Amino acid sequence: MQCGIVKSALRFASQEAPESARGKLQKIRNAALIGGGQSRIEAQHKKFPGDSVVTGHGFINGRLVYVFSQDFTVFGGSLSSVHAEKICKIMDRALTTRAPVIGLKDSGGARIQEGVDSMAGYADIFQRIVLASGVIPQISVIMGPCAGGAVYSAAITDFTFMVEDSSYLFITGPEVIKAVTNETIAKDELGGAKTHASLSGVVHNSFSNDIEAILNIRELMTFLPQSSDEAPLTRICLDPWDRDVPTLDSIVPPDPSEPYDMMDVIASIIDERDFYEISPKYAQNIITGFARINGSPVGIVGNQPKVAAGCLDINASVKAARFVRFCDAFNLPIITLVDVPGFLPGVAQEHNGIIRHGAKLRYAFAEATVPKITVIIRKAYGGAYAAMASKHLRGDANYAWPTAEIAVMGATGAVAIISKGHPDVAAQERQYIDNFISPIPAAKRGFIDDIIEPRTTRRRIAEDLLLLSSKNLKNPSKKHGNIPL
Ligand code: HXC
Repeated sequence: MQCGIVKSALRFASQEAPESARGKLQKIRNAALIGGGQSRIEAQHKKFPGDSVVTGHGFINGRLVYVFSQDFTVFGGSLSSVHAEKICKIMDRALTTRAPVIGLKDSGGARIQEGVDSMAGYADIFQRIVLASGVIPQISVIMGPCAGGAVYSAAITDFTFMVEDSSYLFITGPEVIKAVTNETIAKDELGGAKTHASLSGVVHNSFSNDIEAILNIRELMTFLPQSSDEAPLTRICLDPWDRDVPTLDSIVPPDPSEPYDMMDVIASIIDERDFYEISPKYAQNIITGFARINGSPVGIVGNQPKVAAGCLDINASVKAARFVRFCDAFNLPIITLVDVPGFLPGVAQEHNGIIRHGAKLRYAFAEATVPKITVIIRKAYGGAYAAMASKHLRGDANYAWPTAEIAVMGATGAVAIISKGHPDVAAQERQYIDNFISPIPAAKRGFIDDIIEPRTTRRRIAEDLLLLSSKNLKNPSKKHGNIPL
């Protein structure tokens, strides 16, 4: 650990049970700072050196980062105007020096005793996060109970992580919910790590303790550039870039409805099987994460046929869209591995806005100007074919495996529509499969650049990444686009 602040966070983390550690720390702190025998109101008028946040800079693997760490032992880590000023100061510095910001969050939100000053402080922070968004990476780690402004200030950063059992995120806690809606729910169920990492998708992963969380963030930082002005750092690759992966030739089962694990495809084509997955517990029908190919960091998006047949639903679309936009903002080439039977049909999906949310994914891939390499492994049907970084969305290199099925829809659905009432449905389906379900028509039209042997996938991608490293594509000049939110 090279960063002093991260070090102190680690020391804090190394204590056993989080709740009791917090209580103990709080007592020690109170005794030291306030002195015994004072009333709570008197204590609240005391000045606390440093207030409730520690701010500074340090280095992760020799690269500058700015860090702030909220101190729950002072007014529950709540945000006073001084606390806000300290954060704003390092954020301003981070933006001008083009270095990432990591926030270790443990805060009850706006300092109640400071009224509007604390809310103004939050607004000042929100403004800075937004201005820095897409310029420098911003990471939040939730390490204790966080409410109110603490929650929002995390949600607008690029990635948010939580520590299991000791951290919570909610805009209002169980008591307020009980009073307003008469619903009863435990803190953990409402806003614990499991809830947010797997159900709400608010956080991108959860870790079993503070140390694991901090080490994971250090690992994540190795994939990211310091800012959008830079390319991510490459590493010397000890894994031969041109190695064949023979197992890929038989990874797709002969039965098109049989699943396989897209994670096996990803692991076998990246360097040293080293995959840093983002949102691994949420919308598992799509996989997103960082890896390296021939030493160069890339973002990977892959449909997961093992979960809901890899369908794109609302959650998967939003998860992948946000990831694609991050990669595009920070110069990470995007590798897209496609096996998608389509967008998920259903009343709930329609009524909850699959049209609007699915549009986010198309938008994100279409606007991305980083190198885009797409491999259709098996299914690429209908709207999902177009959405998944197709040639039509400015894909740079679009490949298909011989097992690819590129069509408007699967045989059963198509025959039910175009051969309605035909006596021999099976024959119609066979005919449809022969005529339409294949990568050949797309390849003939140039929508697929090549049909490749699966075993050569790593080599092909590595070659393309090299060729595309000088890619310079710009979107039309504009104030900003209007992605459907
Ligand atoms: C001042 C606070 C505080 C706050 C906690 N404390 N939150 N002090 N302002 N916002 C103090 C408590 O009084 C207590 O002090 C100590 O921190 C620890 O709090 P506990 O409640 O004992 O801890 P715990 O049971 O772990 O619960 C933590 C908590 C809870 C879930 C965060 O404290 C809580 O619900 N706090 C209020 C959350 C909230 O509603 N915040 C305002 C949101 S509005 P003592 O002296 O007893 O040790 C907001 C507006 C943003 O943020 C606007 C943006 C523009």
